[in-house]
Amino acid sequence: MKKLKIASIPGDGIGKEVVPAAIDVLHTVAELHGGLTFEFTDFPYSCEYYLEHGVMMPEDGMKRLSDFDSIFLGAVGDANLVPDHISLWGLLIKIRREFEQTINVRPAKQLPGIQSPLVNPNDFDIMVVRENSEGEYSSVGGRIYRGEDEIAIQNNVFSRKATERAMRFAFDLASKRKGRVTSATKSNGIVYSMPFWDEVFKDVAESYPNVKTDQQHIDALAAFFVTNPSRFDVVVASNLFGDILSDIGAGIMGSIGVAPAGNINVNGKYPSMFEPVHGSAPDIIGKGIANPVGQIWTAKMLLDHHGEEEMGQVLLDVIEETTKNRIITSDLGGSHSTQDVTNEIINRLKAKA
Ligand code: NAD
Ligand code: IPM
Ligand code: MN
Repeated sequence: MKKLKIASIPGDGIGKEVVPAAIDVLHTVAELHGGLTFEFTDFPYSCEYYLEHGVMMPEDGMKRLSDFDSIFLGAVGDANLVPDHISLWGLLIKIRREFEQTINVRPAKQLPGIQSPLVNPNDFDIMVVRENSEGEYSSVGGRIYRGEDEIAIQNNVFSRKATERAMRFAFDLASKRKGRVTSATKSNGIVYSMPFWDEVFKDVAESYPNVKTDQQHIDALAAFFVTNPSRFDVVVASNLFGDILSDIGAGIMGSIGVAPAGNINVNGKYPSMFEPVHGSAPDIIGKGIANPVGQIWTAKMLLDHHGEEEMGQVLLDVIEETTKNRIITSDLGGSHSTQDVTNEIINRLKAKA
């Protein structure tokens, strides 16, 4: 019997609602599989934890998490309790960095039965590969002077290693898909990092002669995500561009509540972390209406990551059957609860046994 030891961090807000739902789904997947079990260990790291302990996780927190096969996270952030830059850098970004989860993979795929806000969605199926460790999210910079002379400096950091790693990941992924990589650039306006990004893209492309490539400035690319998303296969982007593009991807799917993500440690030295694209959604906490699809689709990515692609596909099929039958939450125009959607997915999985 294969056992996967998973650290679960529901975190804040609706993370506490959608993570238990997705864990129930994963247990059902394991039953259906027959040869797989999950052992989840819950970690309370969150803004509430911070209020009690003055830190987002204990000193040995990373060491404890390192014992798991993967991490399953909900969302972090409750700005009413803790400023976002403290909570996020103390937990989410800390884990991404210290566990060298240098790639963030974020699918955006049209779901059946869901009205895309686009007039012509044309069955798009995009993978955003986001560089996840550096770029615009750097701690290099500072604030000097005060008052009207104050200056804030935020440096971007682009290393050849991390840039190349993200691009290779994108090309490898495209080789298994439709064979196209689009690079998100801005080398017309940003004079050091982006021309460098383009150069690395060109170098990496040379070793993948069977993959078609193009590059688009991020502003035009954002527009194409809306006007013609089906032209894209894999899109590789820097940390900030990838963050924004993946929310556009979520938007064209119909809701930020359905988009999944995986933070991947490519060398296998540390656990990878699976979390949806959305945040803690403070405006809908406790109403029972949070869309669990993003977290459940994220569970599919966790299955794929551990070599359970067949079960991953079954789970995605069931998610699609559920949306097709319009068992959906209010963000997608439905009136079902978190629990209704979860039950529907679980029942459909059980029916496959
Ligand atoms: P958000 O994703 O939490 O919410 C944006 C909007 O989308 C809200 O109206 C919310 O109700 C809606 N929404 C999000 N997820 C939904 C779901 N599953 N079902 C239905 N509706 C959903 O983004 P925000 O408001 O910018 O951020 C809120 C907090 O979450 C902040 O503290 C932010 O820093 C944090 N955040 C964390 C993560 C993460 O942990 N990965 C990601 C994004 C934001
Ligand atoms: C995400 C989030 C985070 C990011 C924030 C909360 C720091 O938006 O996971 O997409 O920008 O990476
Ligand atoms: Mn984001």
